[in-house]
Amino acid sequence: MDKMSIQSFTNLTSMLKELFGFVSIDQFLPVEGGFVTNNFSFSCGPNRYFLKQFGTASTERIHNITIAQSSFFNEGIPVIMPILNRHEETTFFFEGTWWGVFPFIDGDTCSSKELTTGHATQLGNMLGNIHKIGLTCNKEDAQPIILWNKSIFVSEKLALEYVYEREANKRDVETTAIQNLHLQKNFILNNPNSVAELRPENDCLIHGDFTHNNVFFTHDGRVQSVYDLDKTCVAPRGYEVARSILITCFDHGWDEKSFKLSDAFLRSYLAICPMSFEEFSHGFNIYVTHFMHTTWLEKKVILYKSKRHEPFIYSSHVRLTHLLSDYGTLAKRLYPKII
Ligand SMILES: Nc1ncnc2c1ncn2[C@@H]1O[C@H](COP(=O)(O)OP(=O)(O)OP(=O)(O)O)[C@@H](O)[C@H]1O
Ligand SMILES: [Mg+2]
Repeated sequence: MDKMSIQSFTNLTSMLKELFGFVSIDQFLPVEGGFVTNNFSFSCGPNRYFLKQFGTASTERIHNITIAQSSFFNEGIPVIMPILNRHEETTFFFEGTWWGVFPFIDGDTCSSKELTTGHATQLGNMLGNIHKIGLTCNKEDAQPIILWNKSIFVSEKLALEYVYEREANKRDVETTAIQNLHLQKNFILNNPNSVAELRPENDCLIHGDFTHNNVFFTHDGRVQSVYDLDKTCVAPRGYEVARSILITCFDHGWDEKSFKLSDAFLRSYLAICPMSFEEFSHGFNIYVTHFMHTTWLEKKVILYKSKRHEPFIYSSHVRLTHLLSDYGTLAKRLYPKII
């Protein structure tokens, strides 16, 4: 995302004052953590706010996010709710994308390395509660998940290889990114799952990106708040469970600790929102196949030379290697033996 000019900040300040009635706005400070967008904190008198740039210009998407935030919050999920502006709207449009203002929360974050089975238990419990609501709430306006398309993957892989091959100085991270695409292609060839064959049942409103990166914890390790519903949609809940586990518990590496974390996560989830092995395994297949068709990370590194995304190329490489060799048996290994 481009850096904003001083003129943009001046215009943004006027807009915030007009829409939210802020009398004065103290300097915008960048908040680290957004992978694709600009986020800031600012103060008005004694109050501090979080200003989020949504990575979308789609009004329909914003509408979906707003509805999901309320659906979960109204049933007791501690979603950080946006502050309504004078039109009673949750977002405003500025320089080509949607933005929102939230109360600034001073919560604890937890890196994948610091994550304990206690955290994983709390996360599984929270996701179970989210899905209990997601299964029964009104989903009339929600968009169904967009899964994968083999032709799009092939076109993007070719385009990225074309750029890489013409690179005068091929960096190690770019070479690994290209290797990742090859691994993904091998998976797709060996597991030619079509969306139609897997027949996903989109029956649950999901958070969309429920990982340790999108919650704040209390000092004693409970989930204090949940945020970033940018990818909310209706999908099979097994998809989100598998996604959350494979990101949250396997981001630091692929070892015994990963399996302990995932066992704690899944046991805790199942205690709140039971799910058969068949449903879990089906969701797992859908998530893994979806993941194998994604190229956004490789695009960031090869096309846009994003430094911020480079470490993820290596963790993605580890995950891909294991998923390729263990795909057939992994769902069984992850699902608790005795609940
Ligand atoms: N209300 C808040 N108060 C304080 N900090 C926040 C708040 N909401 C989010 N953050 C911080 O800002 C970071 C980015 O927020 P968020 O995940 O909503 O944005 P994003 O642009 O979608 O980011 P990403 O690409 O990482 O998913 C979070 O990881 C968190 O550390
Ligand atoms: Mg986030």
